[in-house]
Amino acid sequence: MLIKIPRGWEIPEREATPEEIFTNRRQFVKKLGIAGIGAAVTLSGWDRVAAAILDHRGDNDKIYPAKRNPKYVLDRPLTDESATAHYNNFYEFTTDKERVADLVEKFQIRPWTVEVTGMVAKPKTYGVDELIRVMPVEERLYRHRCVEAWSMAVPWTGLPMKAFIDLVQPSSSAKFVRMVSFNKPEQAPGMRTQSWYPWPYYEGLRMDEAMNELTMLVIGIYGHELPKQNGAPIRLVTPWKYGYKSIKSIVKIEFTDKQPPTFWNDIAPNEYDFLSNVNPKVPHPRWSQATEQPIPGGPRRPTLLYNGYEEYVAHLYKV
Ligand code: MTE
Repeated sequence: MLIKIPRGWEIPEREATPEEIFTNRRQFVKKLGIAGIGAAVTLSGWDRVAAAILDHRGDNDKIYPAKRNPKYVLDRPLTDESATAHYNNFYEFTTDKERVADLVEKFQIRPWTVEVTGMVAKPKTYGVDELIRVMPVEERLYRHRCVEAWSMAVPWTGLPMKAFIDLVQPSSSAKFVRMVSFNKPEQAPGMRTQSWYPWPYYEGLRMDEAMNELTMLVIGIYGHELPKQNGAPIRLVTPWKYGYKSIKSIVKIEFTDKQPPTFWNDIAPNEYDFLSNVNPKVPHPRWSQATEQPIPGGPRRPTLLYNGYEEYVAHLYKV
């Protein structure tokens, strides 16, 4: 079937079929037929993407390695994968960075759903694979800077958050995106032993930040699926912000007109603000942010304003 696809966002080269179409193929084809013949009916959002891949099939394996987007270049070598896999912040498991990888063993990442809710034209709970299969997935090399002043350089695989937003169509009155992580204390020992934290982990972005070209929903790393300790099956990455904004293992994405509370800002508002943009000139109340320590080693480096992404994001913060 030949369907002319309006170019809203790029259709991935790889082949895939979302579960929705797979299971409701007949109804969908019927709907498409009507849309195709009667030019007055416009396909949009999910339907448009789905139409593009209607006759393709595949599975998540076919995503990797995703094509690297050459636009995003690094000023330093990539961090060794053994470091990104064994030096993690994931408090649901433990505060001991080097033990997270061991403690994620019981964490179940399938089945996994992402609820899209709030001020949105298409509220829906997506199976994560349903989303992954229709996303315009690519690889990008990004700097990764934790508020604790350590840094890495990581090849993430994911989709621009803007593509996801185009898909679900928030209303124009939505000004913020609120994201929530999983709540499974039986699988995540840190949630049980550190019950004073306001679980589940939650974060938020302004809508213009979420739409920024750098913002990614990430599903893979080093050319393969995310390991659990890096926030599988789907996490946020905002490379110009401190790492704690990059919420892992997302189960809910809500569009809202009010600035959402965030996990670390609720815990220590004087130490962690909503924006949390990397800035060498604004020290953490307990340590300097002027330099950073590459992981796993090497000399400290000067911290870059917006983590080196000034050209992409500075305009968002002009007053
Ligand atoms: N997301 C959840 N759900 N729980 C967390 O504890 N830690 C954050 C962020 N996302 C965290 C989270 C912090 S402080 C950092 S620096 C990054 O994840 C670390 O990501 P990485 O382990 O992949 O390097």
